[in-house]
Amino acid sequence: MPDRYPPINPKCPHMLHGGDYNPDQWIETPEIWDEDMRLMRLAHCNAMTVGVFSWAQLEPEEGHYDFSWLDTIMDKLAENDAFAVLATPSAARPAWLSKKNPEILRVQPDRHKIRHGGRCNHCPTSPIYREKTQSINRALAERYRDHPALLVWHLSNEYSGECHCDLCQEAFRAWLRERYEHDLARLNHAWWTRFWSHAFTDWSQIESPGPNGENSIHGLNLDWKRFVTHQTVDFMKNEMVPLREFTPDVPVTTNFIGAEVFVGRDYWKFRDVLDVVSVDLYPHWGREEESVPDWQTALQFGFVYDMHRAMLDGKPFMLMESSPGAAFSTANSRLKRPGMHRLASLQAVAHGSDTVQYFQWRKSRGGAEKFHGAVVDHAGHENTRVFQDVAALGETLRRLDDVVGARTNAEVAVIYDWENRWAIDDVHGLRREHKDYFETCVRHYGAFWKQGVAVDVINEDADFSKYKILVAPMLYMVRPGVAERIESFVRDGGTFVATYWSGIVDESDLCFLGGFPGPLRRVLGVWAEEIDALGKDERKRVTPLPGNALGLTGTFEAVELCDLIHAESAETVAIYASDFYESHPALTRNTFGEGEAWYIAFRDRDPFLDPFYEALIKRAGIRRTLEKSLPLGVSVRVRGNGRHRFYFLLNFTDLPRNLPLGSTRLADVENGMVFETEMVLEPRAALVAVEWESRTEADPFHLGGGAKARWWDRESEGRAR
Ligand code: GLA
Ligand code: ZN
Repeated sequence: MPDRYPPINPKCPHMLHGGDYNPDQWIETPEIWDEDMRLMRLAHCNAMTVGVFSWAQLEPEEGHYDFSWLDTIMDKLAENDAFAVLATPSAARPAWLSKKNPEILRVQPDRHKIRHGGRCNHCPTSPIYREKTQSINRALAERYRDHPALLVWHLSNEYSGECHCDLCQEAFRAWLRERYEHDLARLNHAWWTRFWSHAFTDWSQIESPGPNGENSIHGLNLDWKRFVTHQTVDFMKNEMVPLREFTPDVPVTTNFIGAEVFVGRDYWKFRDVLDVVSVDLYPHWGREEESVPDWQTALQFGFVYDMHRAMLDGKPFMLMESSPGAAFSTANSRLKRPGMHRLASLQAVAHGSDTVQYFQWRKSRGGAEKFHGAVVDHAGHENTRVFQDVAALGETLRRLDDVVGARTNAEVAVIYDWENRWAIDDVHGLRREHKDYFETCVRHYGAFWKQGVAVDVINEDADFSKYKILVAPMLYMVRPGVAERIESFVRDGGTFVATYWSGIVDESDLCFLGGFPGPLRRVLGVWAEEIDALGKDERKRVTPLPGNALGLTGTFEAVELCDLIHAESAETVAIYASDFYESHPALTRNTFGEGEAWYIAFRDRDPFLDPFYEALIKRAGIRRTLEKSLPLGVSVRVRGNGRHRFYFLLNFTDLPRNLPLGSTRLADVENGMVFETEMVLEPRAALVAVEWESRTEADPFHLGGGAKARWWDRESEGRAR
């Protein structure tokens, strides 16, 4: 693993700053293009995403390409020392294409065919669509292969949705034949089709699930979702053929939907194909009224960032889209409070992004997104609050060249697994509405976030061996080999934490027989016999046993789900103190080889996870970013490049916060100010500081004695922008 990754594209060894740029909407007013360039310079933007929705402009008639406007834009970007994140246009197609080839239009789950319109709604299987997208991609790659502005390929846009057309059904059946090695009996077994007389006697009888058809076979539901991911990746690979052929050195990415609700694709399956991971994130700040303080929003999005960083083993990712102004897709488009733009953007960098990019550069004049936050408002000039915030951030980013490629070293991992989520969401019973898998993972992650402990968010297939603590909330589905890898992780000295509702089904959603948590039973040393689902406001008490290994005291509360377990080889650490399961184990610890495995049998309510993990962090000897505890709402993250450690100090509250630094001495990379022992973080403050070993030593950043050379030199050399 390198100390430091190379820049996304060595052509531009700086933080990328920019956003979705739609100059083709302003083709009749080229003076706006010149104004855009002036404004980009002012905002210190160096990477603009072009062409995402430009197909109709690029190919107004079948086979007749018009690249003139894009040529001009590419040249203008290059003349202005900026780069293009060049998109392939497959997310939205020209009307002539749909009209001529209706097969490319999607069929919805209820088997209704859509009409032309909208976007992100093509059939991923259609040979015609594959051919057409590849042709235009070829034309783009051939034309711009040597263009100085070409920096990164942006494939399509937020691949999403499903197509249930006949072509997709056929492809699904072919995929199933391969998965089950042409053995229908294996499929019938995996799907447990004797239930409700759903056995298949011929492959042709199988169809995708739908609201008005089959939806009770959970194995089928799962396989369909797997297929949808597979088919998307396959479509994406088809798009990439000409890009790889003409521009093998230009990195390729596609923008993932980062929202917590996006469950439609297993993004881990894209990792072998992409050179860099990108994510679009639109946090909804300012929800105090709904009792969601900003620090909780930050914590949740920290989880999402840490997952995208972990996808390519810690390689920096791209924040491909964020809103420079108001969040748009939320119930109310609340404005970002002063300071929030800088804070939210630097949070992404703190978690491993080497870019801050926006949707959108300039507000469109018409269409559905004309009021979406943009760097340039309808007013058209730089004298807006949002523009000034963006420009100020650009000023900061240009001082962060040494952060480019820097790593985060996490000793803790939390598993969030898409297939597991799909299976949990399909469960009938337990709690019908709120299974809350995502929320539960975020809560466990949050206990580390609050302590300033770096976490990788991984899936079941990741390598566990590099971590000291592995947390797997609600690991309902355990795929083959996973339990064995968890066992060796613990045997070798690791700390494993599992919860209620784990080890229930295999990869086909078939229940493990012989006692839950199935293949995890040995490592956890418990047998989970029954699980009680509580009423909305019901609480059960949980009491730690005196003298327990973690020093937990007092009483805790269980809500929603209580597993009734038997401690087998495990020792009981806390017990239920309510109901007929009073005195049954609620928290256990099993020594296994050199390590230990914990089982939290209940869904906890604050405060349980905080003291639990605080004790575990100490016990496992995990490093925190600062020695002392962090004040609530403050996040401290570190990225190191092998030579220097950069601290991101982020205050997500409206109050000044005292931050004890212990023996860490820091120097602000922007103004050279040195902090020792303690510092005050102003409300919504976001600082980037370099760890500074000693005032008198080498001091590579020349931050002491007024010789603030390094960052400033860059500027005068004109390299950073
Ligand atoms: C998504 C899309 C963009 C835009 C934004 C609006 O992320 O990729 O094209 O629609 O949402 O928030
Ligand atoms: Zn289709």
